This record gives sequence, structure tokens and C-alpha cells, in this order.
Amino acid sequence: MNSIIKKAALALGMVAFAQLGHAAGDASAGQAKAAVCAACHGADGNSPAPTFPKIAGLGEKYLLKQMHDIKDGTRKVPEMTGMLDNLSDQDMADVAAYFNAQNMQLSGSEAFSVMLNSGDNVDGLALGRKVFRAGNSTTNVPACMGCHSPTGQGNAPAGYPRLSGQYAEYVEKQLRAFREGTRANDGDTRVMRSVAKQLSDAEIKAVANYVAGLTE
Ligand code: HEC
Ligand code: HEC
Repeated sequence: MNSIIKKAALALGMVAFAQLGHAAGDASAGQAKAAVCAACHGADGNSPAPTFPKIAGLGEKYLLKQMHDIKDGTRKVPEMTGMLDNLSDQDMADVAAYFNAQNMQLSGSEAFSVMLNSGDNVDGLALGRKVFRAGNSTTNVPACMGCHSPTGQGNAPAGYPRLSGQYAEYVEKQLRAFREGTRANDGDTRVMRSVAKQLSDAEIKAVANYVAGLTE
């Protein structure tokens, strides 16, 4: 791991520690408040289309942070404009607890090949596995599993989201957005922007398809 990433992981850990005192969400109270989300994310957080991320089981802390970021515009999601305005902090905590308690259905991965910058075609899932488990030492990309766990379950207390089972299209879109800086809600440590900065298009496509089928 390079030192920027180490520092980022440490800083995020400290934030996680500082927030331990907050009131927890109530999943059963959250279910009714989540009805408005179902059209896009599915009643149980398994959205029916890859344009909408699955939000089941992503981690309560991560879900709540994204909702706050989307509500205050730190993360721009035009499709959700105004949708969180009538939810109080407690409502959002309850909704986050509800979706976190649901099971993510695996999207699954299919074999495919990707073209590297060299022009060579390689096995996409093998490349994705390599990036996820080992990173890329030539370009200083850290192993994703260091934060998102070897099975892609994430690290809920730290706020590192689950990636396992998510739609590949959505993961690819997020990695590009972090790389381009159009998604910038990863904090002052810029943890995901620094990870994504060095990823090639082929690596992004490969790792996104790999995690879609990654199981425990
Ligand atoms: C009209 C469709 C729509 C509705 C309704 C909607 N969302 Fe979303 N939501 C989206 C889209 C689109 C994104 C992802 C945008 C992107 O690509 O970054 C998103 C992203 C999210 C994310 C971030 C997911 C992640 O993996 O980072 C969370 C959390 C979320 N929505 C929660 C909710 C909740 C809670 C509700 C109900 C109160 C809701 N959404 C209602 C369209 C919708
Ligand atoms: C040092 C820890 C760390 C490493 C290493 C790391 N991530 Fe992340 N990742 C995070 C954090 C923290 C977030 C949440 C940022 C936020 O709050 O919006 C995140 C968010 C993401 C998201 C957005 C998920 C969603 O639902 O929107 C994707 C996709 C992602 N990471 C993929 C990767 C991939 C692929 C790698 C390896 C190339 C990787 N990450 C390496 C910490 C890390």
C-alpha cells in the first residue's frame, strides 16, 4: 500500500470512530419511509435496472452518508432531486437501516475480453480479479480488497461499501466519475479519487465486471 492510501484509510478510520455515538436507525420504521425509493431501487433495494444502483446491504454507515451527500448536493444525483428533502436525519437513519438489512442479489459475471492500451486482448475477469486482489504496482493502484474486503463485502463500520453483486455498469460509471472528479464526495483524503486516477479504461471495465459476480 502506498502511503497516501494508508493515511486515507487511517483518517477514515478516525472519522468512523468519531461517529460511533450517533443514534442508530430503526429498520422497521424505515420500511414505510422507503416506499418512495422503490420505483428506482426496488422495494428491497435490488433495483430492477442497472441505471439504478442496488442499495441492499451496502452498509448502514455508507448508505446514510450517501443520502446526506445527495441531499445536500455534495454528490450530484439529478434523478433524486428533492426526494430526500422531507426526510429528517432520523428518517434517513431509519431508511438506511432498512435497506442495509436487505440482501443484495448477485448480478453475476460473464466471461469477456478487454483490449489493453498495448492493443492486446486479455481475459477481462482475470484482469479484474488481479486489480481487485493485487492492484497494479506499476501504476500505484492499491488492491481494492484492502478496503472493500477479499469477498467484496466492504467494511461496514468504516463506511467502505459492499461491491459484491452490484451492477457492473454502475460500478464502471462510479469509477470513471471518481477518476474524472465528477464524483468527489470521498472526503478530504480523496480516497477513491486517488485510487481511480491511475486506473485504465480496461482495468475499470474488468474490475467492475469482476465484482458483479464476486461471492463470499
Ligand atoms: C427516480 C429514481 C430514483 C429514486 C425514486 C430514488 N433514487 Fe436513489 N439513486 C438514483 C440514481 C440514478 C442513483 C445513482 C446515480 C449515479 O449514477 O451516481 C441513486 C443513488 C442512490 C444512492 C447511492 C448508492 C450507492 O451505491 O452509492 C443511495 C443511497 C440512494 N440512491 C438512496 C435512495 C433512497 C433512500 C431513495 C428514497 C428515499 C431513493 N434513492 C430514491 C435514482 C433514484
Ligand atoms: C483505502 C481504502 C479504499 C481502497 C483501497 C479502495 N476503495 Fe473504493 N471506496 C472506499 C471508500 C471509503 C468509498 C466510499 C466513498 C464515499 O463515501 O462516497 C469507496 C467507494 C467505492 C465505490 C462506489 C460504490 C458505490 O456504491 O457507489 C466503488 C465502485 C469503489 N469504491 C471501487 C473500488 C475499486 C474498484 C478499488 C480498487 C481499484 C477500490 N475501490 C479501492 C475506499 C477504498
